[in-house]
This record gives sequence, C-alpha cells and structure tokens, in this order.
Amino acid sequence: MRIAAAADLHCGVNDRERIRERLNAVPAAADVLVLAGDLTNYGRPEEMEVLISQLLRLRLPIISVLGNHDYESGAVPELLRMLREVGIKALDGEPYEREGVGFAGVKGFCGGFGRGELTAFGEPAIKSFVHTSMEESLRLERALSQLRNERRVVLLHYAPIEATAVGEARELFPFLGSSRLSDVCDRFGAAAIFHGHAHHGALEGRTRGGIPVYNVALPLLLAQAPPLAFRLVEV
Ligand SMILES: [Fe+2]
Ligand SMILES: [Fe+2]
Repeated sequence: MRIAAAADLHCGVNDRERIRERLNAVPAAADVLVLAGDLTNYGRPEEMEVLISQLLRLRLPIISVLGNHDYESGAVPELLRMLREVGIKALDGEPYEREGVGFAGVKGFCGGFGRGELTAFGEPAIKSFVHTSMEESLRLERALSQLRNERRVVLLHYAPIEATAVGEARELFPFLGSSRLSDVCDRFGAAAIFHGHAHHGALEGRTRGGIPVYNVALPLLLAQAPPLAFRLVEV
C-alpha cells in the first residue's frame, strides 16, 4: 500500500486554492492519504467545509486524526461528524482496517520524552495533565490491541519520539509529544508511525524498538529542497 501522508494543513476559510495545489499530486502517487491532525486553523466547521471540498476532489480513501488546532473552537463532535459523513475515516481511538492494513489513530498529547517525561505527582493540575497524556496512550493501546493485521500503521498528531521534534526549541519539547505513545507502539509493533505538530522538527526517526517515525508536518515538508507537499511511504 502506497501511503501519502501530510499533517498541519491548517486550513482557513480562504485556503481553497492553497489546499488544492498542495494535494493535487496525491491521487497519482498513492493508494490512500493519511492526515495527521491540525486539519483546520481554529477548529471551525466553516474551515473544515473548505478542506473537505478539496479532499473529496481527490477521490481516494482518506484516513485522519484531529490535532490540537481542531479542538480550539470546541466543535470536535461536529468536525468528526462532517468528516465521517462524506466517508473520510476520522480515527479517535478506534481500529480501522483497509486492504489488509490495520490503522490505529489518536490525537495523542503532550508530556515530554524519555527522562524528560512528566509524571503524575503533586498538584491536581499536573496530575490531570499527565492523566490526559496517559489516557491518549491507553486509547492507542486499545486500538492496536484490536488489530489482527500483520501490517499496522499508527496515526498521531503529537510526536511519539524526541528525534522528530529536534529542530524545535528545546523549551517546547514537553509540549510537542509524549514517549508514552511510542512505548505503546513498541509493545504492539507497527510498520510506520506518522505524526505532525512539530512544524520545525525533523523528518524521520525511530522508536526505541526500531519502528520508523515520520514527521509529516506540512511546514517541515515544504522546507525541504525541493519542497514536498506530502510524504510517500510504502507498507
Ligand atoms: Fe500544527
Ligand atoms: Fe498541532
């Protein structure tokens, strides 16, 4: 399966043309498109409407997760409904299978990496923050545990490893992702992990267990020479 992957399209109401140009080449290159969150700029239904109009033109299967920007306006149920209504698979912790490939997708959350990982100790606010991070990893674990496929692909918005966040300011690392997400992937195994969110991170890395991780944030792809509109990975 040829997977075209991108994240952080940050579609605004006036972005119809920009999105069209970015995604034009996808159908000729890939069998499916995966979108790793921050589909919209402010999580507004009218932004999602613009994006969906361009996604439908592509006429290929699309699998997505939402990102933190899609949560900004408190309209997540409506955004998910809009995507699902037109047949775009919007994953939020459920397993999905397509042509023998299993997909598990969650947004993920912050929390930090490795030794820098925040633990649930002290004030209620810290505990609640860490609890949210753990809950996302648990939802990913549940999705992965239900997939029986040999080939599995994980879709996240937040980074699961530090390596693909490198390039961003170090002060931001705790807010770019959590290694709890990659620990889960290592336990279950996966052929590839896609994420976004770290706009100025690095293109590729590996989990401790060796799973390839692709940061497909659009600003990062566009900064390559020559610029990429999406990442193509075969599984
Ligand atoms: Fe983003
Ligand atoms: Fe983001």
